[in-house]
Amino acid sequence: MKTLVYSTHGYDMPFLKEAAKDQHQLTFTESPLDSKTVEMAKEYESIALFSNDNASAPILEKLYGFGVKYIALRSVGYDHVDLHTAKMLGIKIANVPEYSPHAIAEHAVAMLMMLNRKLYDSQLLIQMQDFRLDSLVGFDLNNKKIGIIGTGKIGMVFAKIMNGFGCKLLGYDLVENPEAKDLNMTYTSLVEMLEKCDIISLNCPLNEHTKQLLGEAEFKKMKKGAILINTARGGVICTESLLKYLENGHLGGACLDVYEKEKGLYFFDHRFDIIADSNFARLHSLKNVLLTGHQAFLTKEALSGIAETTISNLTQWSKNGASVNDL
Ligand code: NAI
Repeated sequence: MKTLVYSTHGYDMPFLKEAAKDQHQLTFTESPLDSKTVEMAKEYESIALFSNDNASAPILEKLYGFGVKYIALRSVGYDHVDLHTAKMLGIKIANVPEYSPHAIAEHAVAMLMMLNRKLYDSQLLIQMQDFRLDSLVGFDLNNKKIGIIGTGKIGMVFAKIMNGFGCKLLGYDLVENPEAKDLNMTYTSLVEMLEKCDIISLNCPLNEHTKQLLGEAEFKKMKKGAILINTARGGVICTESLLKYLENGHLGGACLDVYEKEKGLYFFDHRFDIIADSNFARLHSLKNVLLTGHQAFLTKEALSGIAETTISNLTQWSKNGASVNDL
C-alpha cells in the first residue's frame, strides 16, 4: 500500500522500514500533519500518524477529498483524531493498542527516582567538584502511598514496579483491573486518592471525561509535598493550576513527560527559537519539576512493536479492507 508516513524521525524510521520490508511503499516526512502539510497526502491511499499530528475534522475532510482511505496511528492514544468525522467520511483509523507498556512505566519510575533523589542536581554539583550533600536529601519510596489514575496496561506495570519498592498502592479507574488484587491495590475515589497519596501517576487516556481531570480543586486536595507524574497526556491536567500549587510550595514536585501545549514544540529542534509560552518557561524554571519531551515510549522494544503493528494494520487493510485494530 502506498503510504505517507508523517512525523517520522531518525529514531523510528529504521524500525518502520524493517517491518515493512517490500510489502508496502512508504514515503517518510518529518513534517507533522496539519493544515499546511495536508496537501502532501495527495495521491496516497493511506497515511501514518504519530501522537502530535492534527487529524481534526477539517483536515480529515481534505484527506478524504484527496482519496485517503486509511489512517494508521503509531500510538495507543487517539485523542488527536476526530473519530466521529472519520467514521462519517468512511476513513478507517487503527491504532497500536499495545506495544511496550514497560517502556512508559519504566520511564515514569526513572523520572520519579531522578527527581526524588535529586540526581540531576548531584551530577551538576559533581561536575563542579562540589561534594556537599545538603541540597540532595530525598525520601524512601518504601511504605509510601502511590496513587495510580488509570490501572490499564501501563498503570499496572507501574504498579508492579512500585510494589517491588514496598509501596502501598491505591487505584482509581472506571473499571477495576482483576490483576490489582495480587498487588493488594485498593481502589478508591479520586478525592480519597488525592488526599492520601505521596505520589500520583497519571496513566489514563485523554478524552472528554479526563480533560483537565486534575485542576485547581484537585491539586488543592493533594497531600502537601506530594509528587505528580504525568506520562499520559498533557491535557489531563490544567498546567496553570499545577504551576500555582508548585510555586506556592503545596506540591513537592512534578515529573512531566507530556505537556498541554507540546504540539509543534516537542520532537523538534527549537534551540534558536523564542518559545513564546510563559507556562512552559515557568515549568522548566522550577527546581522541583522534571520535564522530558514525550520520550516515555522511546525504547527499542516499543519502537519495534509500534512499527510491526502499524505495518500489520496496513497489510490487513490492503488484504481485506479491515484491521483488528480498527477504532
Ligand atoms: P489502557 O487502555 O490499557 O489503560 C487506560 C486505563 O485508563 C483503563 O484502565 C481505563 O479504564 C482507564 N480510564 C479511562 N477513562 C478513565 C477515567 N475517566 N478515569 C479513570 N480511569 C480511566 O491504556 P495504556 O496502554 O495503559 O495507556 C494509557 C495512556 O498512556 C494512553 O492513552 C496514552 O495517552 C498514554 N501513553 C503515553 C505515552 C508516552 O510516550 N508518554 C506512550 C503510550 C501511551
